[in-house]
Amino acid sequence: MTKIRKAVFPVAGFGTRLLPATKAQPKEMFPVVDKPVIQYLVEEAVASGIEEIIIVTGRGKRSIEDHFDHSFELEQTLSEKGKKELLKQVTDIAKLAKFVYVRQPMQLGDGHAILCAKEVVGDEPFAVLFGDDIVDNEKPALKQLIEAYEKTGSSIIALEKIDPQDTDKYGIVEPDPSGETEKLLHLIKSFVEKPAPKDAPSNLGVIGKYVVTPAIIKALENALPGKGGEIRLIDGFTELSKTEKVYGYEIQGKRYDTGNKLGLLEASIAYALKRDDLGPQLKKYLKSLVLD
Ligand code: G1P
Repeated sequence: MTKIRKAVFPVAGFGTRLLPATKAQPKEMFPVVDKPVIQYLVEEAVASGIEEIIIVTGRGKRSIEDHFDHSFELEQTLSEKGKKELLKQVTDIAKLAKFVYVRQPMQLGDGHAILCAKEVVGDEPFAVLFGDDIVDNEKPALKQLIEAYEKTGSSIIALEKIDPQDTDKYGIVEPDPSGETEKLLHLIKSFVEKPAPKDAPSNLGVIGKYVVTPAIIKALENALPGKGGEIRLIDGFTELSKTEKVYGYEIQGKRYDTGNKLGLLEASIAYALKRDDLGPQLKKYLKSLVLD
């Protein structure tokens, strides 16, 4: 079975749910404590065995490239001042993986973003990570998907049981009960993007992490553009499932959607509370707020 070596990160979106903060800054660079969200995702990918990170960028996203590059002046200054720990932190970022940047010239959907990376991914299975969802769990979320891929040899979509009232915020899948082999792994019969609660086939929502077989490229090329002429990854899965099995795997861990204001705040607080240098003080502060 081909090893999953590459991960595609579509990050060209506007981040409208975080406006006005995203007017001139990419949401992927917003910090959760002291690391940008996209660094958590790259670290998740690397900890899951990924060697090459393919970032599909767009206008206004240059700071992502700078973040994963060396910063000569900063490194020089930190070195001269003897700030060894900080120097290591900033230089290690550039060494995390091999980074490749592809530009998505127009925002024509997440499926279109993946097609922009077609030549770079080549003819092998790969991972796709959207820039919003970070999962706090000992075994990285992507590693869980890769293990499910290794069992099935099929494309795997990360799922979570969501609040049935929230189906219009997610892609929702219809599981095929005849294909149930183990508890968290579901064979998928159909996909529907953001249905109203009354039309949702289940409460299994798609979260932004996937492992896909190379056939997804043809499937996306064949998928009919949806509203606004967009090519959506979920429509690619509908197309792909005509020729291959597609599974969903219920991810273990606590997920934060950092693409919305509340999710970003929750992630920041939860990650800060776990830190020895910030946790006790923050806890005291939060308690004082609640008691006032
Ligand atoms: C995208 C996908 C959707 C998925 C979601 C997860 O939607 O289209 O199927 O559930 O990511 O984060 P977006 O949030 O980009 O509108």
